[in-house]
Amino acid sequence: MSTLNNDTLNIGVCDYPEHVPQNEWGVHAEQQRALGLTYVRLAEFSWAKIEPKDGVFDWQWLDEAVATYVAKGLKIVMCTPTATPPAWLVKKFPHILAVDAQGQTMRFGSRRHYDHASETYRKECKRITTEIAKRYGQHADVIGWQTDNELGHEGTAVSYGGASAERFPKWLEARYQTLEALNEAWGCAFWSQDYSDWSQICPPNLTAVRQPNPSQALDYQRFCSDMIDEFQQLQIEVLRALSPDRFITHNFVIFAQEFDLYKVAKNLDFVAWDSYPIGMLEFFATWESEETKTEFARTGHPDLVSFNHDLYRGIKGGKDFWIMEQQCGHANWAQYNPLPAKGAVQLWTAQAWAHGASCVTYFRWRASHMAQEIMHSGLLQQDGRADRGYQEVKDFDPSQFALEKVDAKVALLHDYNSLWAYNLQPHNKDLNYWHQFMMFYSALRELGVDVDIIHPEQLTDKQYALVVAPALTLMTDKTASILNLCAKSCPIVFGPRTAFRHDSGRVANKGQFEFIEELVGIKLANFDSLRPTLEQTIRCTNHNTDFTAKLWCESYEVNSAVATHTYTHGPMAGLAAVTQKDKVSVIGALSTGLISSVLMEALRGAGIETYRLPKGLRLSKRGNTTLVQNFNQQAVEWQGVTYPGVSFTTLE
Ligand code: GAL
Repeated sequence: MSTLNNDTLNIGVCDYPEHVPQNEWGVHAEQQRALGLTYVRLAEFSWAKIEPKDGVFDWQWLDEAVATYVAKGLKIVMCTPTATPPAWLVKKFPHILAVDAQGQTMRFGSRRHYDHASETYRKECKRITTEIAKRYGQHADVIGWQTDNELGHEGTAVSYGGASAERFPKWLEARYQTLEALNEAWGCAFWSQDYSDWSQICPPNLTAVRQPNPSQALDYQRFCSDMIDEFQQLQIEVLRALSPDRFITHNFVIFAQEFDLYKVAKNLDFVAWDSYPIGMLEFFATWESEETKTEFARTGHPDLVSFNHDLYRGIKGGKDFWIMEQQCGHANWAQYNPLPAKGAVQLWTAQAWAHGASCVTYFRWRASHMAQEIMHSGLLQQDGRADRGYQEVKDFDPSQFALEKVDAKVALLHDYNSLWAYNLQPHNKDLNYWHQFMMFYSALRELGVDVDIIHPEQLTDKQYALVVAPALTLMTDKTASILNLCAKSCPIVFGPRTAFRHDSGRVANKGQFEFIEELVGIKLANFDSLRPTLEQTIRCTNHNTDFTAKLWCESYEVNSAVATHTYTHGPMAGLAAVTQKDKVSVIGALSTGLISSVLMEALRGAGIETYRLPKGLRLSKRGNTTLVQNFNQQAVEWQGVTYPGVSFTTLE
């Protein structure tokens, strides 16, 4: 089997031959090759074209499409088409459909309308995966596979009825063994929620009065995550057997949060993700000011994008990842979808490389004439004229980007259990896990520091100079013992809400920090959820510098630690806001300036160089090359050098 170039960045494109007349395929493939693209991703939504009727297959079009690309020198990334069960299949097996939180069964007419727990649908997926793998699994130019498409995206990770509702009690029985254990873990003594039979347990939707039991909801999230894992694993097994020596990957989404990526990605060869910087800014960055959103409206916010790169590099412990879909013009799915600035497509491609991407795949080749994504752009416009992204790709030389290692010295700890637990009871309408996490991530990126995003359990694999745990709210025995060990050789900075809950989602009898009390040397005094009009002032005890905190503040009783910062007024006046014991600090308040200042001190202590970067200018190091990226539309001067607007510059 031939493969892609292993030494430098590869670029490719997502294409849909089934959307255009066959006499255009050859022209497209030739143009793609001329543009420097080396591979195409195909067929992720093509089930109805491959199997138009139950058991009746039409391979001719796909055989001919593959042959056309291959004849022009392109390699193929083939997909399993399971994100789009066809109409005949849904009609035959209506119970595969997912049920939403309002109890309504999804209808056919879009995509991802299935329940991952459905044994019937899993069987059908195994069948179509077997057929497509038999057909192309040994094809010399099919270099690898993408499973499904964006698992769990657009709210489809969770189904609240049908197969999921049936399987949930069985999953719980395997987890807890006895109902006594479950009742205890969920705190069912509260509001008379005790269960006396497994069959009484339902998904946590449509409960009367406010929220469902958060421990039940946390377990439901874990359950749905396991269903996705099992669902994908079936496909991986088929592909491994019928298509040996080809890679298997999956294209995950921006800020994936519906399932545990560390688990779901474990049997993939590497991970891929789909990068839409502008859509992401409009859609996810609820915490960014309008001013910032306007500044980065045409480039995306550098940290939102690079955070996802770092996350996906970390998911497989530092392995190179792919961008399986790279925005190359305007998108269609955000509330506003501005045109990217000139140079943005090149900047995004270079940025992805600098954070560890080995391949960047533009979405999509030609804009669609039809259906849901008519308003989305491609490298070509609907009528076949080159769009703006095309010219940028043409002028871009991927061979200048060598595939060396990203070697970050700082780790940020991230985990899905903390994310779910945090977001189930944020206790402040303007806060969520990502918001808090990104305050720490951005503080480090503004100081020019490269970071790995890793699961706490990965701490045993690599020695870091500094570990930061921005929102590690759910603490297990295992994580605690890893942290206790890690702290012997490495400074650690914890953020607010650290170790507030145990695995069950409950607070420990000894309160916050139970498993790591020795390490931090403090106890929680109070937490304070601030409405937008309230602020807290925090004073550094050494330097008399003041910082302003918003949204969330915690105060601590110090035992074996010292208070390095205290609250100056309000109900927590005089109490510790930041503490330190040996090399372990805890930051209890959400203040950009405070977080940056404590991190800077910790970085200095760890011997890591920091810079004061202008807004929108970022540094990322891969191998010996530092990539300076300017996400501002105007030129920026830094250290005596002027960096043009929307540009990248390599420094050796
Ligand atoms: C992705 C998806 C693609 C397409 C694209 C549009 O999330 O995987 O199929 O819908 O968004 O931006």
